Amino acid sequence: MRFQPIATALAVGASAHLAQAAGLHDAAVAKGLLYFGSATDNPELSNTAYTTQLKNTADFGQITPGNSQKWDATEPSQNQFSFTKGDVVADLAAANGQKLRCHNLVWHQQLPNWVTSGSWTNETLTTVLKNHITNVVQHYKGKCYAWDVVNEALADDGSYRDSIWYKTIGEAYIPIAFEAAAAADPAAKLYYNDYSIEWAGAKSKAAQKIVQLIKSAGAKIDGVGLQGHFIVDQTPPRKDLASNLQSFVDLDVDVAYTELDVRMKTPATPANLQKQSTSFANVVGACLDTKRCVGITIWDWTDKYSWVPNTFSGYGAACPWDETFQKKPAYQGMMAVLGAASASASVSVAFTSASASASVAFTSASATPTSAISTPTPSSSAADFLPQPSAAAHIKAYFQCGGLNYKGSTSCASGLVCKKWNPYYHQCIQA
Ligand code: G3I
Repeated sequence: MRFQPIATALAVGASAHLAQAAGLHDAAVAKGLLYFGSATDNPELSNTAYTTQLKNTADFGQITPGNSQKWDATEPSQNQFSFTKGDVVADLAAANGQKLRCHNLVWHQQLPNWVTSGSWTNETLTTVLKNHITNVVQHYKGKCYAWDVVNEALADDGSYRDSIWYKTIGEAYIPIAFEAAAAADPAAKLYYNDYSIEWAGAKSKAAQKIVQLIKSAGAKIDGVGLQGHFIVDQTPPRKDLASNLQSFVDLDVDVAYTELDVRMKTPATPANLQKQSTSFANVVGACLDTKRCVGITIWDWTDKYSWVPNTFSGYGAACPWDETFQKKPAYQGMMAVLGAASASASVSVAFTSASASASVAFTSASATPTSAISTPTPSSSAADFLPQPSAAAHIKAYFQCGGLNYKGSTSCASGLVCKKWNPYYHQCIQA
């Protein structure tokens, strides 16, 4: 059983029998996780509506810099360190009392030219590697809850990726990196981080071997980060995600979903948004099912700043909030699996009252087809605490227009119809 802390930040609307978390982080903590968080990046921090929500600690108790602690940012020229951009995100986390997941120390991407085009020997590149890690980790000492020490060392088939690190130093670069990080900040949790290790298979097995390699070399590893860059229709069921998490935990490490998003073909359709809600709910549910799953980080909270469209042409809509900062069904799906109906009264100014109408969504009831998922039981009193649109309101696309306990308007805006997805959730969609 996961430890259940007293739900400190709960009770919106106040009723002992119906504590409601104000957001994803509060709900996650109430369920025994350490945090729910989001990645961010320096350019978007100039958007105050964006930062208002990023600082909403009810939703985000943790942040990760998406780019500004990577090698090209922190050591652009050999032994010339630059922490300005990374410090902006670290300071933001400290000012808001959010945990900082630090990302990352050793990767094959975002390396400056002086690294990729240098003529290195095993010995000289090892010195470069240790020097980088020592300087960067010492700079952030005491500020990082965790460091992604080695990122994406594996190819898709589970073999080692043919990176400059592997080609020049061999697999020993991995324990060497962990040893250097532990020496520079003994208190930071040290993670191996990768994608496509979220389900059982060759790559997951290979990541487990990396854990064993680090431990057998006598170095410290505290956790494995499963990035969680999923695709609608291709996200494994909750029980499969959970059993894969457990195979890492069996090696005596923590686990976390570190870069969660669920992309789809764009433009998004209501059906795909519902499937996306299922995927997000299943991932969060798998973490809840796993005793040493410490938290979940989404790879930015809004589609406006998602990395996906830049990398996968024709795909996007991967985050729980859309480009205009409106919550999508994925938000409600995660809240429901976390055992909380969302109380959007606490949500920042960036959201309109129309978004409040989406709050009483027990969407993951429909979004949870696997048998392992606990379907939230709608309470007849739940809706009483939540903001409802006036009966005359014309509900916007993708927001709730009906369902058990729903007391708001059932009238959709022009061109939309109120579609019954399940007994709990009806939604305004294109006619
Ligand atoms: O900094 C330059 C800027 O000077 C230039 O004007 C601009 C023009 O394109 O590019 C800027 O660099 C971009 C950088 O993000 C910073 O914004 C790169 O082009 C762009 O490729 C880079 O993308 C990042 C990507 O990693 C690089 O592989 C994404 O923002 C970032 O979200 C993504 O994050 C990775 C994780 O670190 C590891 N796991 C996968 C994940 C998604 O790819």
